[in-house]
Amino acid sequence: DDLVRLADAIETAETAVAVTGAGISAPSGVPTFRGDDGVWDRFDEGQFSYGRFRRDPEGFWADRVDLQRELFDGEYAPNAAHEALAELGRDGHLDAILTQNTDGLHGDAAESVLDRPTDESGGDEPPIVELHGNARRVRCADCGKRIAAEPIFDRAADGNLPPTCDCGGTYRPDVVLFGEQLPGAVIQRARSLARESDVFLAIGSSLVVEPAASLPRLAASSGATLGIVNLEPTPCDGVADVIRRDDVVEVLPELRSLVEAP
Ligand code: OAD
Repeated sequence: DDLVRLADAIETAETAVAVTGAGISAPSGVPTFRGDDGVWDRFDEGQFSYGRFRRDPEGFWADRVDLQRELFDGEYAPNAAHEALAELGRDGHLDAILTQNTDGLHGDAAESVLDRPTDESGGDEPPIVELHGNARRVRCADCGKRIAAEPIFDRAADGNLPPTCDCGGTYRPDVVLFGEQLPGAVIQRARSLARESDVFLAIGSSLVVEPAASLPRLAASSGATLGIVNLEPTPCDGVADVIRRDDVVEVLPELRSLVEAP
């Protein structure tokens, strides 16, 4: 069937690339932004804009503490879909994972599948490109120092607003805020990976937020086989070769099992 075709394309591809969104982390208990019970039904995107951070850092941080709690409540761990992608990467079948997620779960899955920290790597695993940054870190808006987010969020939750760095600057989440541009180099890298790919997978994303939204079309128009796995229809379905509207934890392990290990 369709999934066998996609697996065959992955096996013969020189370059295979995946873009992922909140849907891949939904089975790990991280809520999505849109769709059923989406975070943007309960929060207003405007609360988390770069302009608000600049204008009203205290208010921004007060709301951000609530959002962080909503997104990353308690323990959350990579699921079978993250693991399937990590295994495809380990086995040389996936060359990059571009993710819109800031939860760090692709990195966790890579470490557990490779059984070692990825930053001590021999460099053989595929890069994970975090298009929107990583919410487990904050960085100083002035000096740029990056540190773990958790103690800073604890400080902010205790009413220490806004949290500041030793240099006197204000900390901000190490993520792309609304109204902020992604670094040009990151966009260029994502676009050239999409253009080079022979297989492009779009997984668990509504594909409505740029730049991820244009990558599937770019890949397809450059000749890639495009596979989409998402519960709901997306604006890119019309150019896809294979569409599965099922749960990522069903489809990705199956896809991975259909691709022969080297
Ligand atoms: P969305 O919340 O827009 O879309 C998630 C998609 O995943 C929806 O279309 C769901 O149908 C689908 N989905 C949910 N659970 C699934 C499952 N178990 N299996 C398969 N599909 C499932 O999330 P993104 O596309 O990632 O930006 O959103 C993109 C960006 O919008 C986010 O990175 C964030 C947000 O505003 C920033 O924070 C900058």
